[in-house]
Amino acid sequence: MAGSYGDSPQRVHQADAAAQEAHGSSGIGPFDYVPKLGFREYWYPALWTKEIPKHRPKLVRMLDEDVVFFRNHDGSAAALTDWCPHRNARLSLGVVEFAGTVTCPYHGYTFDGSGQCVAGLIDHPESPVVPKMRARAYPTQEHGGVVYVWMGETDPVPLEDDLPGELLLPRANRYVRVKEWETNWVEPIAQGVDFHEGYLHRMHFAWRPMFPQEPLWARWLMNLFRTFNKHLGFFRPKLAYYGGVEISHEEDSFFVTKAKAPVFGQGFHPGVNAHWPARVWWRRLKPPRRRPQANAGGNGASLRGGRASMLTGQAFDHSVELPSKSRAVVQAESVHLRWMVPVTTDTTRVWTYTICVQPRTRLGRLWQNVWYYLWRKPSIVVATNEQEDLATFKKDRLRFDLPQKLGPMDAGLIYFRRHLARRSRDFRRLGGAHGTVKAPPLRTADEWRAVSAQGDAADIAPDTRLDAPPAETAAG
Ligand code: FES
Ligand SMILES: [Fe+2]
Repeated sequence: MAGSYGDSPQRVHQADAAAQEAHGSSGIGPFDYVPKLGFREYWYPALWTKEIPKHRPKLVRMLDEDVVFFRNHDGSAAALTDWCPHRNARLSLGVVEFAGTVTCPYHGYTFDGSGQCVAGLIDHPESPVVPKMRARAYPTQEHGGVVYVWMGETDPVPLEDDLPGELLLPRANRYVRVKEWETNWVEPIAQGVDFHEGYLHRMHFAWRPMFPQEPLWARWLMNLFRTFNKHLGFFRPKLAYYGGVEISHEEDSFFVTKAKAPVFGQGFHPGVNAHWPARVWWRRLKPPRRRPQANAGGNGASLRGGRASMLTGQAFDHSVELPSKSRAVVQAESVHLRWMVPVTTDTTRVWTYTICVQPRTRLGRLWQNVWYYLWRKPSIVVATNEQEDLATFKKDRLRFDLPQKLGPMDAGLIYFRRHLARRSRDFRRLGGAHGTVKAPPLRTADEWRAVSAQGDAADIAPDTRLDAPPAETAAG
């Protein structure tokens, strides 16, 4: 039933398949069904609206393409390919000679926001080539001070379909950090559901040199705060092991994973005949309680389209949403959401949104700012993500080309690579995605347009499209 696979939420039932595959140890590769340079049939954040100057164009590289932004007559954002259709100079090195256009620096051909050439300044006021010359234009939309761009081949969906639901909540407060990471976009996605924090971030509640570049007194102050904050995490048993990972919720465009049977304190590992962690004598308080989240919507636990809000999730909940968003519930205060924008094969622009329930009072808002800028941003966004995580998997420190062996810890990763990827809009509309090893597109955008003109039966169902898991991964 190809037609039933629309944008509406529905049950997908692929969690069991992922769990089974994980149990047998899976060799599914990072780019088997996931494109190296990102899914293209989606909106992506490009830049802040205020970053587009009035009288100059602005270059943004994303999805391995160079895109030039400037302002249309009405002030809205225009986006064209950076390569001038005349002889392929960079439009971004040109100027805005006339409002609502960009002029190429080389021979002065001038283009409007639709990509149409509107003047050949040194050619002739009536040049015959002007109406025949057109640069590729990308649809843009603005929301919350951010310009989003659609770089797909097929027709854009409403922007709201691709925005993180939390951004549409009336009482959500968001802090945003945009940073380029030297890594392929799939790794920050993978680390969103691979439960590495139990090991890589194991020092999170211990004393550690958090800001190597900071003065010593600041480091000690931060460590004191980490140790003696109201949760007294330093004196509570830490997670010893997760007991595997399970898919706790699956929908059309995202899924949620959680630790299956987490154990706090120590674990005994017969292979090394030892307990880990080795020393725990000062951890005398009870294990941390896992508290449900407050709900920013204020009226029930759902976002638009019936999606369960991660703001009602629990610690250890992690999720991935198409095309490239990862969420984690961090402590009880907020959702930690990252939207990865592939730039090149080994560069990714990471938009980190910290989304919290907006306080009702001015003092509350002030406190939330203090909390974010003095605590959350330096400790999680910078020290944990940009220093600890990225240091592990940045370029030349992680191989994508060697075989991988995925197990029970990786059920979420397998789910993303094998099932969620194949429910992407690229697969539904085109039958596959450019830049995947096993699933190049089966049809063109024009073929998709021809089919979709006949009604809503345009989607290709994932189950009928591709092979079942290979035998060697399904066996126990
Ligand atoms: S290359 Fe742009 S005007 Fe000639
Ligand atoms: Fe991490």
